[in-house]
Amino acid sequence: MAETELSPSHLIQPMFVTSGEGLREPVESMPGVERLSISELVAEVTTVASAGVRAVLLFGIPSTKDEVASEAYDDEGVVQMAVRALKEAHPEVTVITDVCLCEYTSHGHCGVLQGDEVDNDLTIELLAKTAISHADAGADAIAPSDMMDGRIGAIRTQLDESGHQGLPIISYAAKYASSFYGPFRDAADCAPSSGDRRGYQMDPANALEAVREAEADLDEGADVLMVKPAMPYLDVVSLVKEATGAPVAAYQVSGEYSMIKAAAANGWLDERSAVLESLLAIRRAGADAIITYYATAAALWLAEEASTR
Ligand code: PBG
Repeated sequence: MAETELSPSHLIQPMFVTSGEGLREPVESMPGVERLSISELVAEVTTVASAGVRAVLLFGIPSTKDEVASEAYDDEGVVQMAVRALKEAHPEVTVITDVCLCEYTSHGHCGVLQGDEVDNDLTIELLAKTAISHADAGADAIAPSDMMDGRIGAIRTQLDESGHQGLPIISYAAKYASSFYGPFRDAADCAPSSGDRRGYQMDPANALEAVREAEADLDEGADVLMVKPAMPYLDVVSLVKEATGAPVAAYQVSGEYSMIKAAAANGWLDERSAVLESLLAIRRAGADAIITYYATAAALWLAEEASTR
């Protein structure tokens, strides 16, 4: 009679791919998460897939960063190369790519700067270029996480014009300016060197605005709407799902992961039951899919539960 179901097929595993060879670099603030070079990534995805997780979300850590994020849209960039390697080794795994500039800019902002401000319209051109290069490499879906205005429309139009009419867009529709991204910024080395992201990310005080953002993204051609972070914003997950009826994904972000890890390491929480409860709650709120650093571990725990029932 349970109203909500959680299974490995609901989970998406985010992964960090770094340039270089034979690298597995632990992320200090995210125990259990590593930055992997391409061959290591390909090996790791074998583990992810055999746990029953069907999709991965790739974040790239480039060899060089510059003012205009050149490696983001380089056909030989780290993500583009990783996508080709993954699709060859694991054609059955859905490969989603993060489309944003912050991992590739020397200043760490999600777009190109004009003075101290991110230039929205210049940035969306580079994002569209990035999306096309990911699509050309063979990505199954792209996930723009930058929060510029109008980017979904620009990306959709340019994907269509370059022969990628069928490529789905998972839009970070409601991405809040959140403290819970702290550990990710260590992992991707992308904390802004000056200022913050409040100019383009959402105000934690606003929920109705998330619905407007979601509707705008749907109009512009988004296929899936994402809410992020997940646990502190379950009301937003619910609202967006109810208001749009569209597929909704929720991102259990780095800070949510690290909080549970830290408490578990201290013996203050039971990791497995806390994780499974948090994921079930995100599903209950209305998320069709969950992006979580715990995806693979949770899939294994779920399989164990199913076999002992
Ligand atoms: C970058 C991006 C961020 C995250 C995903 N994409 C960081 C940010 O906006 O500062 C955060 C993910 C996480 O914390 O797990 N556009």
